[in-house]
Amino acid sequence: MKLCVALDLPTMEENIKLAKSLKEYDIWLKVGFRSYIRDGKKIIEELKSINQNFKIFLDLKLYDIPNTMSDAASEIAELGIDMFNIHISSGKTAMRNVMQRLANIKNRPLVLGVSVLTSFNNKEFKAIYGASIEKRSLEFAKAAYECKIDGVVCSAYESKDIKDATDDTFITLTPGIRPFGEDSNDQKRVADIKMAKENMVDIIVVGRPIYLSDDPVQVVKDIILHPISRS
Ligand code: C5P
Repeated sequence: MKLCVALDLPTMEENIKLAKSLKEYDIWLKVGFRSYIRDGKKIIEELKSINQNFKIFLDLKLYDIPNTMSDAASEIAELGIDMFNIHISSGKTAMRNVMQRLANIKNRPLVLGVSVLTSFNNKEFKAIYGASIEKRSLEFAKAAYECKIDGVVCSAYESKDIKDATDDTFITLTPGIRPFGEDSNDQKRVADIKMAKENMVDIIVVGRPIYLSDDPVQVVKDIILHPISRS
């Protein structure tokens, strides 16, 4: 299981400082809406210059018509990032078109499908999607798998069922992780590291429990050195 640190701090300088403090670790870094909208390509270049081996996950959750999504995917592939994501609810045509567009690119980025946002609870979700989170997330994951997407963003609660319904190489990445039972903030379906491991999660995303802590490097060390490697 790999750790992906969410760089959701208010300024580029703070994100860079955090990344520099973590440069010796074999981790993913997640660049999301906030920093990409503000800092653009520059943040990607800066992060790679700190450590070429940092893996970068561009979390922009594309959702648009198939042609617009494929065009965006081509542009994203030029950025030198390692993974990005699209909404599964944008449909099978959009997912297939994106994968076709990337097919001939050498070292193409991985593409994950967003199934259900981890901030949804069942009531809120049903009002929009007309079914339970459990049911829809599995259907969404199967649809993404059929479209040859590399994996899904889901909660730790769905990861194992998704692996069972697809295969072991189908990546599950889970936000909403509170490694050692920290405050859940706005996340509704949080899980700790133990639970993520039991559910065969490939990549855990951790933001606030790291960057809001008094000692972010120590939290990263605790996550990497202890619970993950102990299995
Ligand atoms: O601070 P926290 O650990 O809750 O951060 C989780 C990160 O994962 C945030 O950047 C959030 O945007 C992102 N994310 C999420 N739920 C998803 C997809 C991404 O929380 N389904």
